[in-house]
Formats: sequence, C-alpha cells, structure tokens
Amino acid sequence: KRPAGAPDKGLARDVNKVGIVGAGLMASQLALLFVRRLEVPVVLTDLDQERVDKGVGYVQAEIDKLVSKRRLDPGKAAKYRGLVSGSVDKAAFADADLVLEAVFEDLKVKKQVWAEIEKIVRDDCVLATNTSSLSVTEQAADLAHPERVVGLHFFNPVAMMPLLEVVRAAQTDDATLATAFAVGKALKKSSVLVKDAPAFVVNRLLTRFLGVVTSSVDEGTPIDVADSALDPLGLPMRPMALLTMVGPAVAHHVAETLHHAFPDRFGVSPNLAKVVGAGKRGFTDADGNPDPEVVALLEVG
Ligand code: 3HC
Repeated sequence: KRPAGAPDKGLARDVNKVGIVGAGLMASQLALLFVRRLEVPVVLTDLDQERVDKGVGYVQAEIDKLVSKRRLDPGKAAKYRGLVSGSVDKAAFADADLVLEAVFEDLKVKKQVWAEIEKIVRDDCVLATNTSSLSVTEQAADLAHPERVVGLHFFNPVAMMPLLEVVRAAQTDDATLATAFAVGKALKKSSVLVKDAPAFVVNRLLTRFLGVVTSSVDEGTPIDVADSALDPLGLPMRPMALLTMVGPAVAHHVAETLHHAFPDRFGVSPNLAKVVGAGKRGFTDADGNPDPEVVALLEVG
C-alpha cells in the first residue's frame, strides 16, 4: 500500500550509488543499512582520513559480527565489504544518485555542506538530510536545485528501528519524494510523510518525554528515581539509557530548536546543558546507574 502522501512510485529514480556525508556513528550505521538493503556502492566522507577510516572500520566490523551471528552469508558479506568505501574527497560523489548527510546539527554547517556538494553531484542527484530537528526547506533555500532536497530521518539504532520520517520541504518535487519513499521501502523501513516543522513528529514526542524526566531531576528528584518511575509501563529502554543512546548533545539541540520555535511549550533542562558541557555520555553510566560526576554537577531548584 502506498504510504499517505507518497507520489506515484513510477516517478522514483534509480539509486545505484549512495554517498554519505559524515562518518560518525549515525553515518556509519546508515552506510551499513544502505549496503545491506540496496546492495549498491556506498561512500562515506568526513573531514579527515582518521574519521573516514573509523567509519568504514565500523561497517566492516558490523559485517563480521553479522557473519559470526549467522545472520549473513559469508558470500554476501564479501560482496558488502567490497561495496563500502571511504574518502576525504567528496568528488567521490560525482556519480552518486543519492547523498545523505549525517553531520553536526547546525544549519550553517549543513548549508555549507550542501553548497559544496551541489558543485560535485549531478543536477538530479537526490540530497537527503538526516537532521533530527532542523528545517529542510532552509537547508535547500540557497541551492540551484532545491527541488531535490528531502529529509530522511532515521532512528537509533538504525538497524533495529522500523520508522523513517520522510520530510517534504517546500521545494521538494514529486520525483524526489517518490525516490525517498522507494528508498525507504528498499531499506525495509515504514516510511511516513511528515511536515517540515521543527523536530518533525517523533522528536517532539521524544523531547517531551525526556524533558519530563530531566525536569524532574532539575526539580530535585534523584536521577535513579526519575529514571525508573516508568518501569511498570514496560518500555524497551529506560529514559536515561535512551538519552545516552540518542546522545545528550543531540537531545539538547532538539530541545533548543523546539524551545526556540515554541518557547511556551518546550523548555531546555539546565542540567542536560551541564551534561553536554561536561562531555558526559548522559546522566547515567554504562550500567544505568547515576554517574557520580554528573550527580556532583547537578543544580537543583
Ligand atoms: N546499536 C546497534 N544495534 C543495537 C543497539 C545499538 N545501540 N542496541 C541493540 N542493538 C541490537 C542488538 O545487537 C540486537 O541485534 P541482534 O538481534 O541482531 O543480536 C538487537 O538490537 C536486540 O538487542 P537486545 O536483545 O540486546 O535488546 P532489546 O531487545 O532491548 O532491544 C532496542 C534493543 C531495539 C534498542 C530496544 O531497547 C529499543 O527499541 N529501544 C528504544 C529505542 C528508541 O526509542 N529509539 C529511538 C530514539 S530517537 C532517535 O533516534 C531520533 C534522533 O533524531 C534523536
């Protein structure tokens, strides 16, 4: 069944090569997903060779893990290893049909990335952003071909989460949107069309949810009490583990975007800002216990 709002699938362009901007954890997870599901060459790029090597290394290691878990046939694994590559030179995107960015959440940075990439890629190459909250319309605004820009918002862990938010910017044309939905289907995700509004749909819910937990901590509720209060609901993860997985900097950035857009509806937890400032992985440690260094930092009241 065609997802609500998806154009005729006949308009979709073929995707025979994918470029990924960024080689961090999200970008690397995306590279693995595209290699496995689309079985086409995927090139990761980043600012320096060390980051590129780390990203490609992650994909190769995950392929090895899948083989050892008997989730992937060794023949396919060899094929996938050959399909993933990395480069510091974005010229590697010249013949890509889709370029997906997963770089730092900063509108200026994203716009610079797109301006640079537009000079390299073909005019009909689809440019997709995995932004968690920034306007796709604004990202496309200064491009010569803004009609090929779309949001493809994936969720962590990328391999496990079935949802894909497809974001139509004001300029996105039907062929781009149809390609986005076709890619979502090939990736075996459940795609939904969402408006290009701050933090789209899921991250508004996530920010509200995590915001209630962090604001309880801001008010003086101990971290472990706030974190375990919802255990009887049987959620797959406690909120603080979810916050760690999303990354405090991303969670904080989305909260700021929403606060800026809707100041009366969304706040930003001062203690979340402290966690980010201190470079901590979250409020809790790897075992899910309150991190004593974060406890020492907390400002309550
Ligand atoms: N990265 C990659 N894979 C992971 C992972 C991770 N961080 N955590 C778990 N997995 C994989 C495991 O390897 C395992 O795969 P396998 O079956 O092939 O061995 C599989 O997930 C199941 O793992 P477990 O049995 O250990 O654990 P669970 O059954 O508890 O499932 C979970 C783990 C799927 C992560 C589950 O806890 C869950 O659904 N959590 C909620 C995640 C969520 O809400 N994500 C959305 C975040 S919002 C976001 O990303 C948007 C952004 O813009 C902020």
